[in-house]
Amino acid sequence: MSTSNATPDNLMEAIVSLAKRRGFVFPSSEIYGGLNGFFDYGPLGVELKKNIRDAWWRDMVQRRDDVVGIETSIIMHPKVWQASGHVDGFTDPLVDCKVSKQRYRADQLFFSPVVIDGQTVAYVSALESEDTAAQLQAAAETYKRKKALQGQLAPVKPRDMTEAQPEEIAQIPSPATGEPGSLTPPRAFNMMFETYVGALRDASSVSYLRPETAQGMFVDFKNVVDTGRVKLPFGIAQIGKSFRNEITPRNFIFRSREFEQMEMEYFIHEDADWAKCHAEWIEWCRGWLMSIGLPESHLSLYAHPKEKLAFYSKGTVDIMFRYPFGVQELWGIAARGNYDLGQHAQASGKPQEIFDEATKKKFVPHVIEPAVGVDRIFLAVLCAAYAEEDVTDDKGAVEKRTVLRLSPRIAPVKVAVLPLLKNKEHLVARARELYQRLQRRYSVFYDDGGAIGRRYRRQDEIGTPWCVTIDFDTVEKDGSFTLRERDSMQQRRIQEAELFALLDQHVY
Ligand code: GAP
Repeated sequence: MSTSNATPDNLMEAIVSLAKRRGFVFPSSEIYGGLNGFFDYGPLGVELKKNIRDAWWRDMVQRRDDVVGIETSIIMHPKVWQASGHVDGFTDPLVDCKVSKQRYRADQLFFSPVVIDGQTVAYVSALESEDTAAQLQAAAETYKRKKALQGQLAPVKPRDMTEAQPEEIAQIPSPATGEPGSLTPPRAFNMMFETYVGALRDASSVSYLRPETAQGMFVDFKNVVDTGRVKLPFGIAQIGKSFRNEITPRNFIFRSREFEQMEMEYFIHEDADWAKCHAEWIEWCRGWLMSIGLPESHLSLYAHPKEKLAFYSKGTVDIMFRYPFGVQELWGIAARGNYDLGQHAQASGKPQEIFDEATKKKFVPHVIEPAVGVDRIFLAVLCAAYAEEDVTDDKGAVEKRTVLRLSPRIAPVKVAVLPLLKNKEHLVARARELYQRLQRRYSVFYDDGGAIGRRYRRQDEIGTPWCVTIDFDTVEKDGSFTLRERDSMQQRRIQEAELFALLDQHVY
């Protein structure tokens, strides 16, 4: 049997289609046409997502002595978001097209003058993509050709709309209409979802769905210190839903309006070597991503330029992932100084300090914050795992197999139990027995429908690392069964104890 491995040209299309077909991810409220930026996780998706969360929680909280977990409410006192700066500053720059009513994030809408023989004759625009500059160049060339202009066309100089001068805005064409004159200057758009708490609907009852889980850790800092027997340095971690009214949710579940975060605030002494701690957490996060199966070759680091950091921030590094639509932020690791605790101390009037036994002084701890989205990891995992292969069988026939090479740590189904024939009672009884024993510890699938080869393919497509087939030898000879391995497709006979040992080794 030989194989050749390939990723399809349109990997995102293939993944979205597989996600729908096999019950990983559905558009939310689909029977009503869906709701942009919201998604549902189906039976397999919910298992995969839970496995990602559980792996993070085990490694970040349960297997460390210096991190504890909490769960805080989604709707918090509105003063939390005033103190944190979100009410005033959690904005994205928004540009409207007055004709089409489309809305764009100004930093994702690019433009360039069309310059011929040193003269600006028009402007072209394009939405951010892998090849924004090439698109702008092509648009400039099209413009020149259509207008039958003579002369030397200069290379385009892409800028985004946040950099557009007032006199340029009127000349930049809207991506929706292709015509200039309808784009508005960028304005700040607050991304928090507002709601009302209680029966009154007025300014006094306005509150927000949290846009990040992090503030829960800051607001509960003192509670944890007073009750948790924690000593610096220590972290508080949380997993939970966050909500952002993104102007342009896109790329499937990459940027959505309701998503899940896994964040940890690691509190350190004000005099501690924050840069060393920051670097250690970056390495920890990278290592963790690889432990759930993301290839090192797809990961890179991006250090935010100093001049773009918030005034209180000492440094932020993003772990980037090579998605099919470009290299994008997966995990941000920020050194935030003591800004958040300081803000809450000031706004609440409740000191957020720790007493230093050595110096006999009180101080507000500083923090290193690794913050990642579960849905972004979920998508990265699918992108890295998806493959289509031409498989040649023993008779020389070639067929296509789709396979998700998911790490056994996070695969939604760890092992599938397949009786060779479904009408042989003793095979079925033995298969059911094994299935039930496995089920006590693992997520297992029982499948007795169709030819064995087809059953293997169905499991390949959902990323099940192993299948076991119960056949006549199992019940009539030594009890061993066939173990079929997803990636190599190789088969060998093993005993039940060996199977449990294998699972124990790989599913942790
Ligand atoms: N407390 C810091 C914070 O929330 P962030 O960079 O805004 O920082 C952290 O978000 C992580 O949350 C991101 O790196 C990303 O993985 C995820 N995330 C942010 N916005 C998201 C969205 N609209 N959809 C999906 N995931 C998102």
